[in-house]
Amino acid sequence: MASRVANIAVFVSGNGTNLQALLDAPCLVHGKIALVIADKPSAGALVRAKKAGVSALVIPRNGGNFEKAALKALRTHNIDLVVLAGFLGILSKSFIATCGCPIINIHPSLIPAFCGKGFYGLRVHEAALAAGVKVSGATVHYVSDVVDGGAIISQRAVAVLETDTPQTLQRRIMEEAEWTLLPEAAEKISRELVAGQACDRQACELQEDGQFDAQEES
Ligand code: GRF
Repeated sequence: MASRVANIAVFVSGNGTNLQALLDAPCLVHGKIALVIADKPSAGALVRAKKAGVSALVIPRNGGNFEKAALKALRTHNIDLVVLAGFLGILSKSFIATCGCPIINIHPSLIPAFCGKGFYGLRVHEAALAAGVKVSGATVHYVSDVVDGGAIISQRAVAVLETDTPQTLQRRIMEEAEWTLLPEAAEKISRELVAGQACDRQACELQEDGQFDAQEES
């Protein structure tokens, strides 16, 4: 572990295998997972956070308070970087602007293919198989107000096999791409942050009049 590390918050909705990859990654030396925020109490990722001794919060999105509560938690935990790892919410423009930290996401295709609103979970892989592509993969990108439209940080290609089902393709993309790509990207950005481009915490001030309107990705 480096002497200065970036505090990372991971937003999750599901099983949390990408969270696990971040928790286990030997390459992640300039960042540490300081907080996990789940939008569902049933998220398997919460068990992984607990096992790793990481602070975890459940903030349901249907309560209308998700973004305000999440911003507060980011400040309390001095978060420098937000990683969306299997998080199904769409963050509002106000949240992205107000948070003051970089936000990155992992998407299980080679953007700009099979991405945007409605492309999540198995739907991404169903679309790839229906299109007959021979190569798919994963993309880590910055989060902007365009769904899956922020600047691309890194991508890794994975072969699509004749015998693939959406489930086998999903699994192979996780194993061969996502679980290394995301920790590598988190390390790269953490290293840059501790080198001086630190999160402007002043910008994390809660804006009482902000439009915090996280949407559901389904
Ligand atoms: C992953 O394929 C991720 O890219 C996508 O949802 C899946 C969830 O994975 N956004 P997990 O919850 O990290 O296991």
